[in-house]
Amino acid sequence: MKYLLTISIATILFATSCTKQNQFSANFDNTNNRIWVGKDFWTIPLEDWKVEDGKLFCIGEAPNSRVNLLTHVLSAEAGDFQVSAKIMLTEKGNVPGSAGFLIGAHDEEDSDVRAACYFGGGIKAGVSLNGFAFLKDEKVDLPEGFDFSEFNITVSGNNTDLKMKIADKNSVQVELSTKIENIQGLIVLANNLNLGGNEKPGKSKFAFDDLKISGSKLVEKPENAFGPILWTMHTLSKGTVKLMAMLPPVGNEDNQDVSLQLKKGEKWETVATQTLEPDSKTAVFKIENWDATQNVEYRVEYIEKAKDGSETPNYYAGTIRKDPVDEPLKFGGLTCQYTSGFPYTPLVKNLTNLDPDLLYFSGDQIYEPNGGYPMKREPEDVSILSYLGKYYMFGWAFGDIMRDVPTICTPDDHDVFHGNLWGAGGIAKPGGAGSSDTRGFMQSVKMVNVVNRTQCGQLPDPYDPTPIEQGMSVWYTGLTYGRVSFAIISDRIFKTGPEAVSDWEGRHDHMKEPRKDLSFLDKPGVEMLGTRQEKFLNDWALDWENADMKVLLSQTVFANVATHHGALEDYLYGDLDSGGWPKSGREKVIKLMRKVGAFNINGDQHLPSLVQYGVENFQDAGWSFCTPAICNFYMRWFLPDELGAPVIDRPKHGYENTGKYTDAFGNKNYVYAIGNPGKITVDKDSRYGNAQIRNSGFGFVTFDQNERTINIDAWRFIADVENPIPLRDQFPGWPLKINQYDNFGMGAENLLPEIVVNQPNQVIEVTKTSTGDLIRIFRMKGNSVQVKLMHPGTFTIKIGDKEVGSFTTKQGENPEKVNVEI
Ligand SMILES: [Fe+2]
Repeated sequence: MKYLLTISIATILFATSCTKQNQFSANFDNTNNRIWVGKDFWTIPLEDWKVEDGKLFCIGEAPNSRVNLLTHVLSAEAGDFQVSAKIMLTEKGNVPGSAGFLIGAHDEEDSDVRAACYFGGGIKAGVSLNGFAFLKDEKVDLPEGFDFSEFNITVSGNNTDLKMKIADKNSVQVELSTKIENIQGLIVLANNLNLGGNEKPGKSKFAFDDLKISGSKLVEKPENAFGPILWTMHTLSKGTVKLMAMLPPVGNEDNQDVSLQLKKGEKWETVATQTLEPDSKTAVFKIENWDATQNVEYRVEYIEKAKDGSETPNYYAGTIRKDPVDEPLKFGGLTCQYTSGFPYTPLVKNLTNLDPDLLYFSGDQIYEPNGGYPMKREPEDVSILSYLGKYYMFGWAFGDIMRDVPTICTPDDHDVFHGNLWGAGGIAKPGGAGSSDTRGFMQSVKMVNVVNRTQCGQLPDPYDPTPIEQGMSVWYTGLTYGRVSFAIISDRIFKTGPEAVSDWEGRHDHMKEPRKDLSFLDKPGVEMLGTRQEKFLNDWALDWENADMKVLLSQTVFANVATHHGALEDYLYGDLDSGGWPKSGREKVIKLMRKVGAFNINGDQHLPSLVQYGVENFQDAGWSFCTPAICNFYMRWFLPDELGAPVIDRPKHGYENTGKYTDAFGNKNYVYAIGNPGKITVDKDSRYGNAQIRNSGFGFVTFDQNERTINIDAWRFIADVENPIPLRDQFPGWPLKINQYDNFGMGAENLLPEIVVNQPNQVIEVTKTSTGDLIRIFRMKGNSVQVKLMHPGTFTIKIGDKEVGSFTTKQGENPEKVNVEI
């Protein structure tokens, strides 16, 4: 967008890396010991590299472990270059490995530097402990006695020829040359390269130093830098701004203080300074009494303090926009980021073009294989870095939007290294990491709390911050923005494990066949949201301050709307990981949403759906939008037509697999639209094409507070949002516009008198007179309203704080009219 990623002001003589025109060098001598190398570099895997005593060490065993140089790249233009480095074997390992360069790493699909870092191959140039040197496809044996403890590699060339010279510290030398057809892209230091053939990548560890690059092909790209402020996320709600700055794993000797500055006139004013939270390397700022009527420019300041005491200020800038109370609220709903579509360029471009006012990332901001290497579950400090390295990909992909757009982010199962999660209030998984179909968390509470902090630190303060089991933090809360009141909850963390009810063979979460009596699935004590979150929701329901509409944000849909999981052969009758179970807990939240006319937005499924919930009858409750996965790896389908389910009340559009269906748990789901993947599910030629055919994309919802309408889009991964053709660019059945009050459900035939108020847009509250139970609360549109209820009875009506009286419903129609003055 309009700001540079970082602005470095001081470059001094003794800086760690040195830049002149067509020249770059780095010796790491001025870098404090730490995991993060510096803003010019990006290491993959993050946790497998460190700077120590002025050298760069590979400390992991992942194949193709790499340090990408971001800010100086080889252009495609004609010219020459030379690159050299000192390399030292530090640990031989039990399988011989290799070290050297990948030169000209770029991604054929996407020219973006982020794509090059994760998908760029480059020409391999280096040495193997098996006794040879390699350059592209050329190999030459190393002389007897070659000393791997310290050697130099120099590669030089142009667009047609490459030469490599290797010399150990005793000047034992070899030379190699090869022909190439063009070279462009990143220069990468690599440890344990995948050399193909019978050659294993190996498990050796090397250190690197004195990287030097020069030549006319070298171009400086300062805009490619990442860090030291990686990105920010913020929210504005009820006059309070919360903003979190994400920093990479800086070292103990590095500066730990981060400041927030606001622009006052032409000057930047520091409004707060925070010390980095040590585990997550985040700084969270909270500013109360915020004037939400104007845009305010902010910047985060981090002063890098090098070993020699020199200081380099860095800034990351954005805007806290004014609360969009007088225009429709544009909401981006996103979920599930699988690495193969990174950095999701077509999708990010479209999301940016649609200019959202608010973003919601509902979960699976990481998957365990993201980045192309396995996650590490232990030890604890490494598991945290392993999570962070994958999580930083999210910020790198979406940071430019998030700098200006308030962002809600909630973790789901994969964010805490789980395939599925039934958190049971934060307990440790009995028996440890093994079983993936039972209650409890596999990872340490410290790691989970880092996940919570890095994803939710910018959210309004939790409703009740009291930690749950093991001292696990919580984040469920409310947020009001653009006159829409959001409840942000977890449908995983408190949920009971399926082993509490499963009485079948095999996985506890897979119900393979129908059962006549489903009551065993809803034993007493089986929870979905848990009593703490239910208490919050009951309070949230009553709060209509500065809000016209209500929305509940959850991770998944409260229904089991998938018949096939993973592959088209894999039919599954009932999935206890879905929000369709437990039915009783699911109905509590659906009834609560119905009281306030709340719309539900969620993700998780990788199967976009628009469902109208039912409790006693089909369609007697509110609507849910399950947004498409940003990039889908694990596919699900909803194919009731193919399974021979009867077609009941198919919507007017007539698309397959839509209509009324009862799921395995007895939930009555009206599936208005479904975005199934196609039958062809692999595009080998294109990462983005692959994302497209695996039904990837994002949700976009426009809340019109004046009209009280909700317009729902489900965009495909590749789409033309500026000149859209619905069936090409959206999933079948989208877009759909509903009314806020459609979320009260259909079939309410018991009418209270018409209430006419002298002031428009008042909050009306209906309680059952005999019990005081809340039945309905919402903001009227205009001056009059006639409330329709599912059940007959006598009800007390309040307008604002004013009690209007008690009234008995009439069936079908009620001509009574009550005038209220407030
Ligand atoms: Fe997912």
